[in-house]
Amino acid sequence: MIILHDLDDVRRCCDDARRAGRTVGLVATMGGFHEGHRSLMRAARAGTDLVVVSLFVNPTQFGSGEDLAGYPRDLDGDAAVAAAEGVDVLFAPTVDGMYPDPPRTTVHVAGLTERLCGTSRGTHFDGVATVVTKLFAIVGPCTAYFGRKDAQQLAVVRRLAIDLNLPVEVVGCPLLRDLDGVALSSRNAYLDPQERRAATVLVRALRRAADAIRAGERDPVAIRDLAAATIATESRVRLDYAEIVDAETIEPVTCVQGSVLLAVAAFVGPARLIDNLAIHATDDQIALDLGVVAEEQSA
Ligand code: PAF
Repeated sequence: MIILHDLDDVRRCCDDARRAGRTVGLVATMGGFHEGHRSLMRAARAGTDLVVVSLFVNPTQFGSGEDLAGYPRDLDGDAAVAAAEGVDVLFAPTVDGMYPDPPRTTVHVAGLTERLCGTSRGTHFDGVATVVTKLFAIVGPCTAYFGRKDAQQLAVVRRLAIDLNLPVEVVGCPLLRDLDGVALSSRNAYLDPQERRAATVLVRALRRAADAIRAGERDPVAIRDLAAATIATESRVRLDYAEIVDAETIEPVTCVQGSVLLAVAAFVGPARLIDNLAIHATDDQIALDLGVVAEEQSA
C-alpha cells in the first residue's frame, strides 16, 4: 500500500490504473477505522482492481461546538488496518491541500439534507456533499462504497452523483453492529462503560419497532412513537429524533410502503449516535433490515 498526500498524485495513480484497464474503488473515510470501515474496504477489494481509501477529517462538515478537535486521529494505526485489508492507496490529504483557498463553491443537495440530521446539524451535509464531490473529482470514474448506517448521507451521495452526472457508481453496504447491538461508529470511542450500556437502547428501540411492524403495524406515527418512547426509558440518553422517511428522498411518509427508514439519533454522554431500521414493504411482504453483527459478517 502506498500513502499519498497530494491530490495530483492520487489523480495520476487512478488515471494510470484505468488506462491499464483496471477498475477503481473508493472508500471515503475520516479515519478511526473499525470493522465497519474494514467491511467497506473488503467490498471495494472484492469489487474493484485498485482500491483507494481516503482518510480526511473534513472540517467543513463539523458545526461549531461539535467534535472536530477531538475526532479520533491515528494515521499509523489506520494505515496498518488499511494495509491488512489489501488497500492499494491510502489518500491522506491535508486541510490546506483540500482547501487551499476559502472555498466559494458548495454542493447543496436540496430537500434530502433538510430533515433528520440536517435539522440539528445545520450545514453538515453541505460539508459532506462538497468534500465527497471533490473526492469523486480527484479519483475520477470509480465505484464508491458507503455504509448504510449513515443512511441519509448515502441518499445525499447517491443524489449528488445523479444530479451532477458524476461517473461514479455508489454502492450501499450493510450496517454493522457490535455484539451488544450498538451500530459501529468511530464516535462509540467517546462512551464510558455506563454510556455504552445506555447506548444499546437505540437498537432496542428499533427492534421493538420491528416487532410491531412484523405484528402488522403500518402507521408511521405509531411506529416512530414506539421507538421514541423506548429511547425515553433510558435516562442517560437524550433523543434528537425518531422519524420514518422515504429512503431515497428522506421525505416523511404517511404509510409504511416501498423503501422507508426508521431513523433515530440521540445524545449519549459526549456522543451523538445515529441508527436505523430499513424497511421494504410491498402489499403482501415486508423485509426488515437491522444490519448484521460484525463478527458474523467477517466469519
Ligand atoms: O462518513 C464519513 O466518514 C464522512 O462523512 C465522509 C463520507 C468521509 C465525508 O467526509
